[in-house]
Amino acid sequence: MHLQRDEVGVLTMTPPVVSAATHVRDRTAELHNRAERHPFQRELISGRLSLTTFAAQLSQLYLVHRQLERHLADHLTATPSIRAVVQGYHFRADLMRSDLEAMGLDADGTPRLPATEALLQEMRRDSESVPARLLGYLYVLEGATNGTRILRPMLLSRYPQLGPDGLASFDPHGTLHPQRWQRFRRDLSGLDWPNEALDGLAQAAAAVFRAVIGIMDMLIGPASGAPRRLAEDPSRLANGVQFAN
Ligand code: HEM
Repeated sequence: MHLQRDEVGVLTMTPPVVSAATHVRDRTAELHNRAERHPFQRELISGRLSLTTFAAQLSQLYLVHRQLERHLADHLTATPSIRAVVQGYHFRADLMRSDLEAMGLDADGTPRLPATEALLQEMRRDSESVPARLLGYLYVLEGATNGTRILRPMLLSRYPQLGPDGLASFDPHGTLHPQRWQRFRRDLSGLDWPNEALDGLAQAAAAVFRAVIGIMDMLIGPASGAPRRLAEDPSRLANGVQFAN
């Protein structure tokens, strides 16, 4: 609560004004910490993770981007909130597909892990019933570039096979990143979000974080507990231990 003087000078308590972007960030801060500190990230940054496992994670995220972008494109004309926030440069599934092809993967042929499948279904339901919630999904995927652009140079030095131009989708905006991210936050916060809609936005964002954590759990084992390295052996990955399709 903030203390402020009303028009006749009396001190009153008012709730703090929190922007939609800050609300979503605060509501998902704990999940961001869990994603960031997941052993998968540690192993990746240290260069100990196999490129196969890394590519397996990226290809699941590709499926999420691809479907979100299809939904956003479907609603771009008719849904004012989506029109107000979404820009052409938010679409980067194509860039991800090229990154994956350079890693030897057919991105569109990727079988879905259950965590991915669950998220895709939730996203489809939201797209049909409350399309504005798609912006909550976009918030996490776009926000993640804050971290991936920092990680990219480290990863390119750990995995020289990727070449100097590898992982372009990790830094899709280059030097324009800060202003584009600020614009995203501002445009999102400039919309009128009734409390219920704000909750829906945060729920959608939380669903993406949970799926990302679920995918990492499935690929190398959960943050605590016995490791289950499903993806270390490409043939097991391709033949699907627990894929959803
Ligand atoms: C090692 C892994 C990661 C690192 C080093 C990292 C780092 C960062 C950094 C530096 C920021 C900017 C914070 C700021 O400017 O206030 C950020 C923001 C963000 N990251 Fe991560 N991150 C990582 C993993 C992830 C993952 C896995 C996701 C989700 C898929 C994610 C989603 C986000 C989001 C949504 C934001 C925006 C927060 C806001 O609203 O300001 N990050 N991250």
